[in-house]
Amino acid sequence: MKGDRGSLTINLIQNPYAKTMKEPIDYLKRQQERESNARSYPRRIPIAIKEAKGIYLTDTNGKTYFDCLAAAGTMALGHNHPVVLEALQAAVTSNLPWQTLDITTPIKDEFVEEIWQSLPPTFAQRAKIQFCGPSGSDATEAAIKLVKTATGRRGMLSFDGAYHGMTHGSLGVSGNLSPKQDVASLMPDVQFLPYPYLYRCPFGLGGEKGSWVGSHYIESILNDPESGIVKPAGMILELVQGEGGVIPAPDEWVREIRRMTQEHMIPLIVDEIQTGWGRTGKLFAFEHSGIIPDVLLLSKAIGGGLPLSVIVYHDSLDVWQAGAHAGTFRGNQLAMATGLATIRYIRSQKLSEHAAAMGDRLLTHLQTIQTDHACIGDVRGRGLMLGVEIVNPDQPCNGRGVHPNDPQMARQIQQACLDRGLILELGGRHSSVIRFLSPLIVTPEQIDSIAEIFHAAVKVGAGFGHRSAAQQG
Ligand SMILES: Cc1ncc(COP(=O)(O)O)c(C=O)c1O
Repeated sequence: MKGDRGSLTINLIQNPYAKTMKEPIDYLKRQQERESNARSYPRRIPIAIKEAKGIYLTDTNGKTYFDCLAAAGTMALGHNHPVVLEALQAAVTSNLPWQTLDITTPIKDEFVEEIWQSLPPTFAQRAKIQFCGPSGSDATEAAIKLVKTATGRRGMLSFDGAYHGMTHGSLGVSGNLSPKQDVASLMPDVQFLPYPYLYRCPFGLGGEKGSWVGSHYIESILNDPESGIVKPAGMILELVQGEGGVIPAPDEWVREIRRMTQEHMIPLIVDEIQTGWGRTGKLFAFEHSGIIPDVLLLSKAIGGGLPLSVIVYHDSLDVWQAGAHAGTFRGNQLAMATGLATIRYIRSQKLSEHAAAMGDRLLTHLQTIQTDHACIGDVRGRGLMLGVEIVNPDQPCNGRGVHPNDPQMARQIQQACLDRGLILELGGRHSSVIRFLSPLIVTPEQIDSIAEIFHAAVKVGAGFGHRSAAQQG
């Protein structure tokens, strides 16, 4: 007995964490003290996560949440999905090399084959792939270099509201000013065009007319020898802007953009880093409009939760010299194994169709909630990429009957959701769009619960400021 007590004392002395193991650790305080001022999610979602399974996260206090952030849309199959775990376990016990640069392996070959099988045949027949490195931003950088090299031109066209990453080039083609304004000398020669954000239409028109005027304006710039814009190396485009506020581009507008970029021989880079692999109700968002991009950016879900990004592009652009693009971590075999399992599961279980059905179900709930809450200005999105734009109905409308954004209310609703066990993120102009990005495996019952929590949170969050539609007249 005495001996037992003795060994316990020794353990306590030897183990530097012994004290903290007994007392609860204040993870958030420690994080705040040590991590950079650039930390973002923890400011709005102040939790420390201990466990994750499917669509659920559990924090260190034992509270469980619906995860409708899913690592910014990365966790297509949710957390710790059995097929992903199985693939990972098989990979780590098979003496597979973890990193191979761009040297091939059987798993890489299978992974590329699966991507080829996933693409429309007309694209796959003439496609080339470049593994870029771990992040989506790496894919953006690679694509910009690719089209500059192939065309010999220097400029890029992008869109207001765009988000393509945080590196110098990718931030250069992104719209949000706050991360840009303090960074000198971002990639030059980027021109921003109006995106068809029809709720707050840049032309004050909205609807089909706003969309038509937008594409007409872009065509006139491309045709005008005095537009001030030198013929660009490429155009980069999200088909549903995610971080920009969940804004889907109308299919007809997308087809028009494809027609004009083809006519002007401007390579069209479609960024499906967030929309890819079933998220919008099709395997790729470009399938909604039927276009084929020249360059396709893929990351997030493609690694099954491990970091990986690729660009897939038309072989006519492949004029790169050997070593023109490289990166140490582009040969992440574990990510290819988990990515392969994820893509196979998405395709075999028809998760795109499931995402479309679940998205419709959630959209209907959100639209019903909207009818009773004037602070919900717009409900929009595609598949399981949905957004609710929060406005201030007490402030006067613009010419099109749209109230100004209400970031404070959006924040209150987000907080009220978190209190009730639902993780949602904000995006869009002034961070006033509440975004729903659940894993694709979400069930109808879970969708109903998510909507129920959101509804309760809108009532609470709106609080004293809330006015019903009836009150508005
Ligand atoms: C459309 C899009 N492009 C690019 C990126 C950048 O990816 P990463 O954060 O992995 O660099 C993101 C990230 O959210 C994205 O949504």
